[in-house]
Amino acid sequence: MPDDSGSGLSRRQVLAASGTGLLAATAAGTTTPIGAAPARAAIRGRAPGDGTPEQIHLTWGDDPARSVIVSWASPGQAMRPRVRIGQRVIPADERSYTDALNGETIWTYHARVTGLRPGATYGYAVTADNDGNGADPFSATFTTAPEGRAAFRFTSFGDLATPNTSWVLSYGQAAYAVGAVEQFQPLFHLLNGDLCYADLNPAAQPEVWRDFGNNNQASAAYRPWMPVPGNHEIEFGNGPQGFTSYLTRYTLPPNGTGAFEGRWYSFRVGSVLFVSLSADDVVYQDAGAFVAGPSALVPAPSTGNPPIPAGTSLYVRGYSGGAQTRWLEATLAAARRDASVDWIIAQLHQCACSSSSTGNGSDLGIREEWLPLFDRYEVDLVLCGHDHDYERSFPVRGSDTGAGTEAATGAPVDTRRPRPVTTVDSGVFDTTQGTVHLILGCGGTDANLDDYGLDAADHAIQAKVFTRPNRPVPSATPGVYARPGADAVEDATWSARRDTATGYGIAVFDVNPGSEAGGQTSITVTHYHAVGADPVNPATGEKGAPTADYTVFETFTLVRPRSDGRRWHAKQSATASTVLTL
Ligand SMILES: [Fe+2]
Repeated sequence: MPDDSGSGLSRRQVLAASGTGLLAATAAGTTTPIGAAPARAAIRGRAPGDGTPEQIHLTWGDDPARSVIVSWASPGQAMRPRVRIGQRVIPADERSYTDALNGETIWTYHARVTGLRPGATYGYAVTADNDGNGADPFSATFTTAPEGRAAFRFTSFGDLATPNTSWVLSYGQAAYAVGAVEQFQPLFHLLNGDLCYADLNPAAQPEVWRDFGNNNQASAAYRPWMPVPGNHEIEFGNGPQGFTSYLTRYTLPPNGTGAFEGRWYSFRVGSVLFVSLSADDVVYQDAGAFVAGPSALVPAPSTGNPPIPAGTSLYVRGYSGGAQTRWLEATLAAARRDASVDWIIAQLHQCACSSSSTGNGSDLGIREEWLPLFDRYEVDLVLCGHDHDYERSFPVRGSDTGAGTEAATGAPVDTRRPRPVTTVDSGVFDTTQGTVHLILGCGGTDANLDDYGLDAADHAIQAKVFTRPNRPVPSATPGVYARPGADAVEDATWSARRDTATGYGIAVFDVNPGSEAGGQTSITVTHYHAVGADPVNPATGEKGAPTADYTVFETFTLVRPRSDGRRWHAKQSATASTVLTL
C-alpha cells in the first residue's frame, strides 16, 4: 500500500475477512453481507452481560492539574460501573453505539475524577458489579499536571494501529511504541490521529478498536493519552463525520461549540497551551472511508443499512462551517493575551509540511486555513502524523507565492509554500520568529513512508501538495475507483531534517519553564527512532522487523522569552495592535 489514504477493500482485507467468514465485497459483481452478530461474538469470545473493564485509558479533564477522566469499555453492558480512588467511589457515565457496518453494540464508561491536587500521584481501581475480575479489579496510578510554571515531559507520535497483524495496516511495532512511551515516563502522550485504521477493516471495526485499546492500556491507564481524529477515524454510517467510534471511546476537554464537542479542544499544562485540531475539516485530501469496488460494501443485515456503492467516499472537508477556525482564532488570541502562557503547541493529523514521496504529502487546506493564524499568534510548534515517517521543518513564517507546479501539466500553481525564516540548522530555534512543524506519523503501522521527494532537475527536496479535492474517479479496471494522489509539487525549502533510516519513532519533549520573569524558556526535543523496524527500508532495501530498540535520531531546542516579563509584554502589545488592524 503506497500511502495510508486507504484503497477501500484491499486484497488483504478480503483475505482477512474471508478467513473468519466475515465477508465484505469479495468478488466482482457480488454483494456478500458482512457476517451476522452471533458469529462475531463466538469468534471474539464475547459474553453478553460481561462488565469486565478493558481498554482502560486516561485523558485530562478540564484542568489537568486537578482532574482526569478514566474511560474503558466492557464486552457487555456493565452494572454499576465505577472508579475507586482513595475513599471515593465515582460512578461512570455509560455511552454506547451500534457499529453501522457489522451491527455490534459497544459499551463504554467514563468517570470524571475531579478535586485532585496538582502534581500528585494517585492510585485508582476500575470495576463493576459484573466485573469478571471483581475480586481483584484492575488498578493503576496516574499523576496530575503541575500548577503554574513547572518543568514537565510529554511525548508524541501518531498512526499507531494495533499489534494484531490480522488487521489491515497493523504491525507488531504498535506494541513496542506503547512500551516506548512507558520507557520515557512522560506526564502525558499526544496521539496524532489515525489511531487504529478500523475503517480499513470494515467487517470488524469494533474488534480493531478493541485491540487498539487493549494494546494502549499498558501506557494509557497510567498517563493521559490525548488524541486528535485523523482521516482513518472517519467511518461509514458512524455519525455525521464518521467519528462515533472515536468520540464514544474518548472524553475530551470541552470546546463550547455544542454540536462539535470532542472533535477539537485545548488544554493547559504549566505554561504550555496545547491546541488539538480536527484537520479533516480543512484539508483538500479525500482520505476517509472509501469503497474502491467493484463490489458494494454491504452492512450486516441487523443494521438495516443499505449497501454502500463502489466509488463512495466519506468526504467531510468544511464540516464545521468555519466554527473550528473561529474557535482556533479566539483560543490563540486569548492565549497570547495571557501572561501565564508561554508556549502554544498545535496537534493535528494531516500535514502542512511533508515531503514524503510514498506518503500523502502536504495539504494546501491547512496552509490556507490555519497557517496564517499560527503566524499571527506565534504558534511555536505543530505536531502531526499522516505520513509514516519523521520530518522536521525549519521555523516558517509567511509564504512564497508561485512556488508550486501542477504535477500533470507543469503549469504554475500557488501552493502557498511556507517560508523558512532560516535555513541554518543550528539546533536552537527562536519560535517567536517562526513555527516548527514536526511529522510524527511514526507510531506502529506496517506501512513505513520514510522515502522523500527529490526534484530531478535541481536535486532539491521536493514535496507533493494537495491543492484541490481528490475525489474518487473510475480506474482502468471497470467498476473500480481510485483517489488520485497530490496534484502539485514544490521544492521543499522548509524541510530541515528527514529520517531515512526508519519510519518508526517517538518524540520526547522536555519543557524548561525558565527561572525568572521575562527570562528565557525552552523546550528540548529528542526524537528516538526504531532502526530496523521498517518491513522494507526504502533507501537500502533491507528487510526489518518490529523492535523495542529506540535510539536517538536528533535533539534540538526551541526557545522563546517568557510572557511574564515587561519586555515580552511590550512586544506582545505591538503584535496585538497589528492584529486589530487586520
Ligand atoms: Fe492519515
